Amino acid sequence: MTQTNTVVSTETAIRERHSVRQYKRDVVIPQETLNEILELAAAAPSSWNLQQWRFLVVQEQAQKDLVLPIAYGQQQVSDASAVVIVLGDLQAQITGREIFDGMLAAGHISQEIRDNMVNQIEGAYSFEQVARDEANKNAGLAAMQLMLAAKAKGYDTVAMGGFDKAKLVEALNVPERFIPVMMIAIGEAAAPGRPTPRLPLDKLVINETF
Ligand SMILES: Cc1cc2nc3c(=O)[nH]c(=O)nc-3n(C[C@H](O)[C@H](O)[C@H](O)COP(=O)(O)O)c2cc1C
Repeated sequence: MTQTNTVVSTETAIRERHSVRQYKRDVVIPQETLNEILELAAAAPSSWNLQQWRFLVVQEQAQKDLVLPIAYGQQQVSDASAVVIVLGDLQAQITGREIFDGMLAAGHISQEIRDNMVNQIEGAYSFEQVARDEANKNAGLAAMQLMLAAKAKGYDTVAMGGFDKAKLVEALNVPERFIPVMMIAIGEAAAPGRPTPRLPLDKLVINETF
């Protein structure tokens, strides 16, 4: 593990994060540290603050090995300390009511604002595609933040989309309300990630208009 107990700047965490696919086995991330990483991930912004992410955390070896073939044998699933399956919430309008009722009760917003927000959210979530897009988009933000938080705490990660979603849902009893968006392996690197190129800004940035 690198950078233990040191303060890592956001820039350093971003620049030093690389996908790591080889992990030391049998490393246990202290629960407190894992919770901090998950809390930092959950500090991500989200549409209407609906926090459309959930973290299905797999740490037991038997469970990781159950997931291994579902992730097409990607060895990091078995070797990393934890595999976090970032889920997206297809029914986040339920959270919307809780959040805005809570803000009303706390005196932070008026009844009118609460009603407007709840109506707006329920309108949007009446469209299945909107719910799905929001689940994927917002869970993706939390996933990114999780990887940077892990890096800041000295752990490496790799995001994975290469797994059989239907089989994962079945194996881990994921309720219909949630969809698996991404898997993230977290642990101590046994070998560094390989360098990966990035497109130059002149290919990425369009100023003002196409
Ligand atoms: C949504 C998503 C899905 C990915 N799926 C996999 C995967 O299934 N297996 C894998 O080894 N890497 C996977 N990666 C990692 C990418 O290959 C990696 O991020 C990319 O090559 C850039 O390298 P870097 O992360 O080291 O900067 C995935 C990354 C993302 C963001």
